[in-house]
Amino acid sequence: MSLIKKPNFSKTDKEIAGLRKSGKIVATVLWEMINAIRPGMTTQRLDEIAGYYLKKMEASSAPRLEGFPGNTCISVNEIIAHGIPGKRILRCGDKVNIDVSAAHKGFFGDVGYTIILGGLTHSSNQLLECAKQSTLTAVTMSTAGTPVNQIARAIEEQTRTCGYTIIKNLCSHGVGKSLHACPQNILNYYHPEETLALEPGMVIAWEPYISTGATRAQESCNEWNLTTHNHSDVAQFEHTVLVTDGKPEILTVIDF
Ligand code: CO
Ligand code: CO
Repeated sequence: MSLIKKPNFSKTDKEIAGLRKSGKIVATVLWEMINAIRPGMTTQRLDEIAGYYLKKMEASSAPRLEGFPGNTCISVNEIIAHGIPGKRILRCGDKVNIDVSAAHKGFFGDVGYTIILGGLTHSSNQLLECAKQSTLTAVTMSTAGTPVNQIARAIEEQTRTCGYTIIKNLCSHGVGKSLHACPQNILNYYHPEETLALEPGMVIAWEPYISTGATRAQESCNEWNLTTHNHSDVAQFEHTVLVTDGKPEILTVIDF
């Protein structure tokens, strides 16, 4: 007899309301940051704007809860994830990834967005568009009964069609009363053994990292910053989605 209990994913109305609220908060913070971002601004200043809105909405930064020195992750150019806000001055043409995760009354939300400052070149536009579509595909496919590896297969096929690669050691994940809840470490590429089927009440943050040629993220100059192993470009878009009996509900709605 196994003592390991299968997690119960069904949610009360109160829990769903809590998750909706925290999803809305992180999306609002991201929206305010995207409205405020300008060349000439430091990443620290941009992060302070996040701090202001998080406080105003009585939410706590999730990265800070894990000891990260910032309210949000702001990753510029060669830094692909977990970028620490600081003195770096944003310049025209910089690729900036903003990832906002926070807790409100015990419930978490997680959202991410990539932007090119001051307009897009053709190739960067293609990468961002592919990354955005990969996340939207995953979100749309998040219906009850769908195995996660079928969603991952769709992400992989879309990425391959665009001529890009998936960063295989960065995963999507469940969200709930912690930022990384069950089901944890959802691969963004097809694996035959990852047959877990989505159930109503599951909340998933889909965040495939799409690259012009890298398949692995690695630690950089400090314990947080991640770069690629071969200096390829990367883009990520992230949404938190609630699996229901019907259509999936995006909890972090913002116009991509
Ligand atoms: Co995130
Ligand atoms: Co996430």
